[in-house]
Amino acid sequence: MFKTATKALFCAASLTVASLALATDPIVIKFSHVVAEHTPKGQGALLFKKLAEERLPGQVRVEVYPNSSLFGDGKEMEALLLGDVQLIAPSLAKFEHYSKPIQIFDLPFLFDDIHAVDRFQKGPVGQELLTTMESKGITGLSYWHNGLKQLSANKALREPKDARGLKFRVQASAVLDEQFKAIRANPRKMSFSEVYQGLQTGVVNGAENPYSNIYSQKMHEVQSHITESNHGLLDYMVITNTEFWKGLPANIRTELTAIMAEVSMEVNKQAENINQRDKQAILDGGNTEILYLTKAEREKWRKAMKPVWKKFESDIGADRIKAAEAANKQ
Ligand code: SIN
Repeated sequence: MFKTATKALFCAASLTVASLALATDPIVIKFSHVVAEHTPKGQGALLFKKLAEERLPGQVRVEVYPNSSLFGDGKEMEALLLGDVQLIAPSLAKFEHYSKPIQIFDLPFLFDDIHAVDRFQKGPVGQELLTTMESKGITGLSYWHNGLKQLSANKALREPKDARGLKFRVQASAVLDEQFKAIRANPRKMSFSEVYQGLQTGVVNGAENPYSNIYSQKMHEVQSHITESNHGLLDYMVITNTEFWKGLPANIRTELTAIMAEVSMEVNKQAENINQRDKQAILDGGNTEILYLTKAEREKWRKAMKPVWKKFESDIGADRIKAAEAANKQ
């Protein structure tokens, strides 16, 4: 009798301790990404950690894993769905298996500048695209800019014919594949972490990236020329696992949502400065020449690449493309 009562008491005490521990343990949010820390996304992840831990002390701990150190391309989405990470921010080119309409962001020469991108992302179509993966268990929280992409190679690319026959690294995107086929170049899909080596060993001859990714991955050391083409966009969608997000205590979710909005504003304000800083560092390195296109030359690239739009129009939706074009004119 005494033995049974002691055992019951002991069990109750253990349960109380366990639930206290549960109540006081911070919620751990693993934020995994593939770029360096001094890039727009790298800085955004660190700012999110700082603000979340300052404003929710003891309640939330954010662990940031940069440079594909936890999961690289191709694995991070799966990790999010399995609950192995809670936040990732893949480039918008990496969503085609989850949402066809998000392919809109890869269409070449769709946006005139980053302000038009901003207007589109903040508008109703941009906001709707954040919700297109809910049925797959993925919630889009926000857009983060990196910026417009530049072409690089070991030769001057002034006109589309200069790229003919070259092998270009592309992200896992059918649109980007078609974009290079349209100029009779050869696209090769490759993870971000492999690009430097691919360029160095000649597995690929060229690439397309914003300056911040070129510089932080040292690609300029193995590319003699960059064409400031601004032909396409490399931005991010910060996403989370829907079940995890909905399962958070309401007050914590509300605070994290507000922090994400604040961080997104800061990332989007700083991204262009970071790209300009890194462009200057590339120039200072003295290894890479940056070419600027005349209006007529840029028009040739646009004319060669734009037919790609038609191929993806039904997957993306003609109305969404119209809305993006309209964002250029505001
Ligand atoms: C990134 O900026 O997250 C990487 C984009 C790429 O794969 O080129």
